Amino acid sequence: MSHPDDLDCNRSPNEHFQTVLARTLQNPARRHVLRGGLGLAALSSVPFLTACGNDDPAPTPAEAPLALGFAAVGKSIADEVVLPAGYTYSVLHATGDRLRSSVTAYSNLGTETDDWSDRIGDHHDGMEFFYIDAIGRYSATATNRAVLAVNHESSADAHFFHERGQTSGGTSGKKFTQFGNWDLGARPTLEVLKEINHHGVSIVEVQHGPSGWRYVVDSIYNRRITAQTPMRFGGPSGHLNDIRAFMVTRYDTTGATSRGTLNNCGTGYTPWGTLLTCEENWAFYFNMPKGSNPVDAKTVTSRSRYGVRSAPLADAATTDVGQGWYTPDAVDSRFARWNISAAGGSAADDFRNEPNTFGFVVEIDPLSGAQPVKRVAMGRFAHEAAVCGLPVAGQPLAFYMGCDSQNEYVYKFVSRAVWDPADIGGGLTAGDKYLNDGDLYVAKFNDDGTGAWLLLDISVPAISGYSVYAFANQADVWINARHAADAVGATKMDRPEWGAVNPKNGEIYITMTNNSSRQPGNTDAANPRSYNDVDGLMRAGNVNGHIVRFRENGSLSTATAFGWDVFLFGAEEDAGPDINLSGLSAQNAFSSPDGLWFSKATGICWIQTDDGAYTDEVNCMLVAAVPGEVGDGSTITVNNSRTGSTPATGTQETFIGAALGDAKLRRFLVGPKGCEITGITETADGKTLFVNVQHPGENTPALGAASDFTYQSQWPGNAGYGPLGRPRSATLVITRTDGGVIGV
Ligand code: FEO
Ligand code: CA
Ligand code: CA
Ligand code: CA
Repeated sequence: MSHPDDLDCNRSPNEHFQTVLARTLQNPARRHVLRGGLGLAALSSVPFLTACGNDDPAPTPAEAPLALGFAAVGKSIADEVVLPAGYTYSVLHATGDRLRSSVTAYSNLGTETDDWSDRIGDHHDGMEFFYIDAIGRYSATATNRAVLAVNHESSADAHFFHERGQTSGGTSGKKFTQFGNWDLGARPTLEVLKEINHHGVSIVEVQHGPSGWRYVVDSIYNRRITAQTPMRFGGPSGHLNDIRAFMVTRYDTTGATSRGTLNNCGTGYTPWGTLLTCEENWAFYFNMPKGSNPVDAKTVTSRSRYGVRSAPLADAATTDVGQGWYTPDAVDSRFARWNISAAGGSAADDFRNEPNTFGFVVEIDPLSGAQPVKRVAMGRFAHEAAVCGLPVAGQPLAFYMGCDSQNEYVYKFVSRAVWDPADIGGGLTAGDKYLNDGDLYVAKFNDDGTGAWLLLDISVPAISGYSVYAFANQADVWINARHAADAVGATKMDRPEWGAVNPKNGEIYITMTNNSSRQPGNTDAANPRSYNDVDGLMRAGNVNGHIVRFRENGSLSTATAFGWDVFLFGAEEDAGPDINLSGLSAQNAFSSPDGLWFSKATGICWIQTDDGAYTDEVNCMLVAAVPGEVGDGSTITVNNSRTGSTPATGTQETFIGAALGDAKLRRFLVGPKGCEITGITETADGKTLFVNVQHPGENTPALGAASDFTYQSQWPGNAGYGPLGRPRSATLVITRTDGGVIGV
């Protein structure tokens, strides 16, 4: 199925294979370059760090080595959740469950007449768990009460929320499929409101009782943040006016605020205890109806880099993207805002700037009703997650962020303010301190195992003098970060997804989920594979994805250089040795790593998949890995071969982590049919794991005019949760039947 983040909007000339190859041949330096660049003295200042910057890392004597303590689950294509022996799950909540008893229990028939603003959203994704103390404040330590904040990525397959699927209002009888091919009449208002409101974030109180963790209907903490919720823009005070100039719309002619968050994918948990929710495929919700006024040339250049529509539709009957949210009413701004043509005399008269208001890391205080804040200085792109490096008192904080589209980049934000643990519990006031002002960088992965953080600042000549896009000021650099990253020559990656930080040593891991546009002629060391799918199920390229990890020089948040290697390569177990580079077996083979997270309780690296290449043999999954460290493996040469590209073959040298084998890498969970496994968090004792199942039954055809759905999946109804019928995204609560710590 086509997926918006499969798109390649990067036409910049960064980093061709020939350039890389030439440099490789000139520079044989390898592992010693990496390790020599990391200072032991600085490492020792980081809490919990083991010595890992020298050539012969010594284990900490008192620390028992991490060992996985469960039997791997085999491959499954059943419509159920499969766990190892000794583990069990319940469903915490699923799409459409009510936050308040004032709305009806979910029918799972699409017959609701409310607008979904008091229901759990759809497409559960990243999530974070925040303890509450006895008087209802944020607690940095465990209690039996918490709020769970869940992202709702909610893309296009919204047909389950309406009795007969999504209707277009047109006369052709066409039904919505995905990102196109439908008939643009005026869509029914209630359908559009439901679709707008199932996006965003659900925050619910959860309590631990005799039957484990349950969510609390009618809790004062229950809150929906949707694609309509008012938000403000945060940034350095000296740049706020420039930021606001990009955000002026008919809704707020000052540009200080906007409405809503969209396509919330991964999350972040700040050291002070707030939620970061990340806007990923926000670019595909807007339209310019046939015959509408075009926008100016600079706006076209900006939009094109993000895949936002920049010209009026040529044929409204067949080529529309998005879901037609602008169609119910041309005046009511809840709907008119999705029409981004230059309809009025100026930006203050219409919504031509509406796309500028999306694409950010949004900070939410999960324990207050405070207005969420879009943190502009963290850059605007297809944000996947925003993970904080290990905080060190007195040093700036670093947040690592992937931009998920083909050939996009990895970014880092370094706060201007230095970390003060007294800010724990400080809510959005602390957020204003750390996330409004800082430096934004983009990553360049060199072919010798080192990397560099390239500053995205208007003072950089490559940015101020960039010929493709004329940046007006620093606000323009943040808001058009993809263009700025092109200008400085960042490394095009294989769809950067989530990041995660190893709590034991501060190393940062980032998944590269797959990339069908990677060819043998444009590989580089950090994106070294291009090949045909072993079964022909998926397009060729980097079919199965990989996980890059890196260590900042000196383990400093402010480092401008790092060392990296590839932790694991996804593959089918029966693929050839140039594909299955990590030696995966039937017990741990995975494809398209996406979600990524370290347990603080155990140190396990958990890998989640969103795959279409291996799903004929196994549904998407959760895999547990015992992490090593950057540089613990070897240098390898990959022999690539891919049909349909020129050249069809090529070799690429790269760096691979030490093989884990079946002992250190095991499949822990397989989800139901047509799902993606994403979103993961835990209780502090490591005895409860929360995992999200997103879009089970994704490949269920849209409802036809005269037939019912032919379900690909009926989970979780078929597992006894809620009405049997349509599949629903849901949060799993996973425990061990003996009450022990998960995974060990
Ligand atoms: Fe929302 Fe790129 O996964
Ligand atoms: Ca196979
Ligand atoms: Ca994802
Ligand atoms: Ca395959």
